[in-house]
Amino acid sequence: MNDPVIFLLGATGYVGSQFLIILGRVLPNIPVRALVRSSSDSERQAWLHGVHLNLTIIDGTLEDVNTIQDQAEKADIVINLASCDHVVCTEAILSGLRKRSANKPSQPPFLLHVSGTGIISDNARGEARDAKVYSDLDLDLESHVSCDFIFVSSLGSLYDRLPKDNPHLEIDISVVKAGTNKEIPIRTATIFPGMIYGVSEGIQKTTAWLRAFLEFAKINGHSGTWGKGLNSINNIHVKDVASAVLTVLQAALENRAYEGAQGIYFASSQEPRASWHECMTVIGNHLYEKGIVSKPGSHPFSDEFIESIKAANLSRGIHADGWSLFGGNQFSKPERLAKLGWEPVETKKRSILDSMKDSVEAAI
Ligand SMILES: NC(=O)c1ccc[n+]([C@@H]2O[C@H](COP(=O)([O-])OP(=O)(O)OC[C@H]3O[C@@H](n4cnc5c(N)ncnc54)[C@H](OP(=O)(O)O)[C@@H]3O)[C@@H](O)[C@H]2O)c1
Ligand SMILES: *[C@@H]1O[C@H](CO)[C@@H](O)[C@H](O)[C@H]1NC(C)=O
Ligand SMILES: *[C@@H]1O[C@H](CO)[C@@H](O)[C@H](O)[C@H]1NC(C)=O
Repeated sequence: MNDPVIFLLGATGYVGSQFLIILGRVLPNIPVRALVRSSSDSERQAWLHGVHLNLTIIDGTLEDVNTIQDQAEKADIVINLASCDHVVCTEAILSGLRKRSANKPSQPPFLLHVSGTGIISDNARGEARDAKVYSDLDLDLESHVSCDFIFVSSLGSLYDRLPKDNPHLEIDISVVKAGTNKEIPIRTATIFPGMIYGVSEGIQKTTAWLRAFLEFAKINGHSGTWGKGLNSINNIHVKDVASAVLTVLQAALENRAYEGAQGIYFASSQEPRASWHECMTVIGNHLYEKGIVSKPGSHPFSDEFIESIKAANLSRGIHADGWSLFGGNQFSKPERLAKLGWEPVETKKRSILDSMKDSVEAAI
């Protein structure tokens, strides 16, 4: 790619702002156009320009279809660290990239999408299970077309199945479809982080799920879980997610990335998993000490509360009650990133449970 330009969505987020820091450090010569809402905020402007010296702020939200389409069309690389569940935004990105590809078929643009391991949830409803450990080498998101399940080849059994209504899958499949379309060539890769933790050095210090669970604790008067919360997810430090995104970007720039049907990368560590109950107990005790909740520890949330989450999501167009995302086990092995030489170095330094108090402090 000659003199590429990056269009970045989510530059002010937890992962996005950490990524922008290392992007500005390692690849400072690639200009970045960042879609930012409330872009008139001078503190945000100063921060963004401070960490990346060749950055242009594009004012807009994920609902601004024309802006997104237009910017995607002008870019060589689009990196989406804003939302993996926003259908309208993803469609606008793909539509811009298709136009750009049609104009310059000899130099297909590259889309780096960031989703999550929610796609492999076993929907265990808060129970601990000896769930299957998925390798990203085995995921075949193309096979969905003719059936109700995503097929996953594995050595043990010929096929396992992923429930098609697991979180994020619908959009991930549309990305793979775009990345395997020969007529309008677009290069694609998707990164699926596990449970992200740690204090980000960026603008947004705290991981999205922790912000949500702190809200849930305040509403309920205690920290809590979906069901018993004995389920768990392979975890990953936010700095290691940022380095994973950079690793795939660098590989793509040098034409050695896995792309299209193979462009599927888990980003997780093999460090011990902590159950939601264990995480929420540390959080609950800390909130209790601070007088923010009235009960220490962690307790399953009530059915009524979980129903209210479902209603809130439905009003935003998401059909989710949180059971799959927060009540399931997600066991993953990041074999493709390992092949590119990536290692979760920060995750090995400090575990999710050890860093939990600092994360809560950064959030409140
Ligand atoms: N955190 C995790 O544990 C985790 C795990 C797996 C996958 N993921 C995925 O990774 C991605 C990034 O997650 P994150 O934790 O970094 O999320 P985050 O901190 O909430 O960041 C989201 C970013 O997108 C921007 N954004 C959101 N809605 C927008 C809208 N309507 N218009 C304009 N900008 C909008 C936010 O802008 P503002 O700064 O203006 O809010 C922010 O820059 C998401 O797709 C998420 O699902 C996260
Ligand atoms: C930003 O990058 C472009 C393209 O490489 C270059 O022409 C321009 O001079 C750069 N601007 C700054 C401020 O570095
Ligand atoms: C549903 O809504 C809650 C609360 O607003 C949010 O934290 C969660 O991420 C949403 N999605 C799912 C799948 O639960």
